[in-house]
Amino acid sequence: MSTIVEVAGARPNFMKIAPVHRALLASGGFRPVFVHTGQHYDRQMSEVFMRDLGLPSPDFELGVGSGSHAEQTAQVMLRLEPILLKERPRMVVVVGDVNSTLGASLTAAKLTIPVAHVEAGLRSRDRTMPEELNRLVTDVISDLLFAPTQEAVDNLLSEGISPARIHLVGNVMIDTLESLLPKARESDVLHRLGLDTGRFLVTTLHRPSNVDGSSLPVVVDVLSSAARDIPMVMVAHPRTGKRLHQTGLLARLEEGGVRVIEPLGYLDFLGLMSSSAGVLTDSGGIQEETTVLGIPCLTMRDRTERPITVTEGTNEVVGLDRERIVEAVRRIATGPPTEPRRPALWDGRAAERIVSILCDVLRSRDP
Ligand code: UD1
Repeated sequence: MSTIVEVAGARPNFMKIAPVHRALLASGGFRPVFVHTGQHYDRQMSEVFMRDLGLPSPDFELGVGSGSHAEQTAQVMLRLEPILLKERPRMVVVVGDVNSTLGASLTAAKLTIPVAHVEAGLRSRDRTMPEELNRLVTDVISDLLFAPTQEAVDNLLSEGISPARIHLVGNVMIDTLESLLPKARESDVLHRLGLDTGRFLVTTLHRPSNVDGSSLPVVVDVLSSAARDIPMVMVAHPRTGKRLHQTGLLARLEEGGVRVIEPLGYLDFLGLMSSSAGVLTDSGGIQEETTVLGIPCLTMRDRTERPITVTEGTNEVVGLDRERIVEAVRRIATGPPTEPRRPALWDGRAAERIVSILCDVLRSRDP
């Protein structure tokens, strides 16, 4: 049995690691060791997700918690190193682009343990985004790069990465969506919130560029303007909730007609999103999920590292342009439903492909 260490730590990691974990177990040839870094630690940001996604209790919990980027990344490295030295895995699997992804891949690479990066090759070309630096460094030091789209493959090739390391496998987030959508549709979240199917918008915002600096009052104004045409629910990330409280902008947002609620678990959030008229977000994963669900998505950023969701999906990158957003919301509120779109290989089987490649690669390296 080959030991594989899987590392996840923040909310958007859990839905990516879950299908890989299951596929590793199903193949019968691996002993997956699950490490939770604890970058996200609130019940609503972590425990509820582990439960909804059917992830096992972690084999190791690093308890890293909040801190500056340097602190978070360094703590992941310090706390993971002894585990890797003890377990001596044949591969470390990291997912996504959070600080835990960077810390884990650097630690493994420096111990000469091969790293597999799931969701490799995404690029926003904005190096002020912490996630962009995490993606660039992780991809450069990983042995196996599992890309969700041809665009991601092309990004890696254009950076001079050897084609032998790159594998186009599809999107593991969609594996999770596919397997849990029927259950999510049974959620009573709409009833709990008193909402009618197809007659409300969902918003989620947490990027530092939108919520940490001078943009937050603009965001609040834009959302309040958009909420005049259709009810809007903000599912607030802890970072956003804290900032709205600290700045006193929460009251203004609620007076503007936006209902602010605490983070939801995976099933409730997917249930809510799949029944909504549209989504306003700065999340990465939600741009992909709305494409497959056929729900219009307005991305409140200047660019996206997931352009396929625009060219082949339901996404529109709108920045903080109030006129454009109000106009788009009006269109969504009154227009016909959007059709779901499915980029190539976003078919619910990405994790199977990953594990089959892992089997082949490790077999070819057997002593
Ligand atoms: C992180 C990821 C981002 C991802 C996002 C999704 C990085 C650089 N960023 O950003 O890519 O899209 O997660 O959620 O890794 N907090 C809590 N409870 C928690 C977790 C965080 O209250 O369980 C608070 C922290 O104390 C901090 C803020 O939220 O004040 C930000 O948390 P942090 O983990 O630094 O980054 P995220 O914004 O969550």
